[in-house]
Amino acid sequence: MLFNKILKITCVTLLLLVMHACNKKQKENGLKANAEFPIGTAIKIETLNADFELQDLQKSNFNSITSASDMKMNRIIESEGVYNWSRIDGILNYAQNNNQRLFGHNLIWHSSTPKWVEEKALKDTLWLAGFMKDYITTYVGRYKGKVAGWDVVNEAFESAGGAMRETIWYSVMGKDYIAKAFTYAHEADPNAVLFYNDFNIERDTLKLNATLKLIEDLREKNIPIHGLGFQMHIRMDIPDEVIANALKKAADTGLKIHLSEVDIIFNTHNDTQYGGEQIYTELTDDMKKAQAEKYKNLVIMYRSIVPKAQQYGITFWDFTDRDSWIDGFFSITDWPTIYDDNLQPKPAYFGVLEGLKEEL
Ligand code: XIL
Repeated sequence: MLFNKILKITCVTLLLLVMHACNKKQKENGLKANAEFPIGTAIKIETLNADFELQDLQKSNFNSITSASDMKMNRIIESEGVYNWSRIDGILNYAQNNNQRLFGHNLIWHSSTPKWVEEKALKDTLWLAGFMKDYITTYVGRYKGKVAGWDVVNEAFESAGGAMRETIWYSVMGKDYIAKAFTYAHEADPNAVLFYNDFNIERDTLKLNATLKLIEDLREKNIPIHGLGFQMHIRMDIPDEVIANALKKAADTGLKIHLSEVDIIFNTHNDTQYGGEQIYTELTDDMKKAQAEKYKNLVIMYRSIVPKAQQYGITFWDFTDRDSWIDGFFSITDWPTIYDDNLQPKPAYFGVLEGLKEEL
């Protein structure tokens, strides 16, 4: 009787020890343990809250987190004067409990500017600048010292080429809206790292040049801007050399460089919602391998081209194909991320890991 009991206790203890060792190993092998810079992911807060398996993967791989949607203006100030902080407080809590950097995405973006703001700004053009100041001061001030960095302005240029995007901010306040946004953010939290963030700048030279020129002009006027975010929503056929050249040009400015929204698709889209073109209907083993190579190369380019002091980190935009924004947004089926629909690591995951571990 007693012997059986002792045997049972010993077995259970051994099992617990083995489980603990496995968990530890998984943690040691996670992406963040192998990186010299923060490794982040964007995620929807409700998805994260609802799924403990996803949380485990998130915690073991990442030490930086970006909210995919809940920190955008249309979620925070859905109607005039009514701020909703509860979702952000939830993600902040999660980040703090798990020693993760919380990155703020974003302050000013045409796509998440609420309708009521646009309508009011058109009726009363003088109002918009004051609203921007209030909004940024209140928001960044509330999370001072808690949100490490911000995408202050997102996507101020047209999808292609170097023209400024005709947003409500640009048409009412002129180009100066960008300088103002950075200034207000810096005043509200002088230690926050402030970024300009955009897409296609890794492949569109005109757009990259215009972006760098904008940043140069801001710095000449002593406007506090510290970094450039390459969203890096790329496609398998964007040549690595093109990406390398863009990273080099940007790194030469001395700015911090954040790969802020990384994913890699196979199909194409025209950059507008539902504008996808389905070319591949299934993910073959060869495609998986090629994607792993592309992920690996991207990480190696970041590590070798961007000087260490300028490496703000690499952030994946969702980390499972199940949760990725791509399919819903562009209306295609694709496989952009490093984990599959069943939360299993894809070859792409191991590509990233190899890229992080590779001796340079
Ligand atoms: C996306 C989110 O992932 C989606 O959930 C949302 O429906 C639309 O926005 N560039 C950006 C991000 O800067 O904010 C976008 O995020 C993806 C493209």
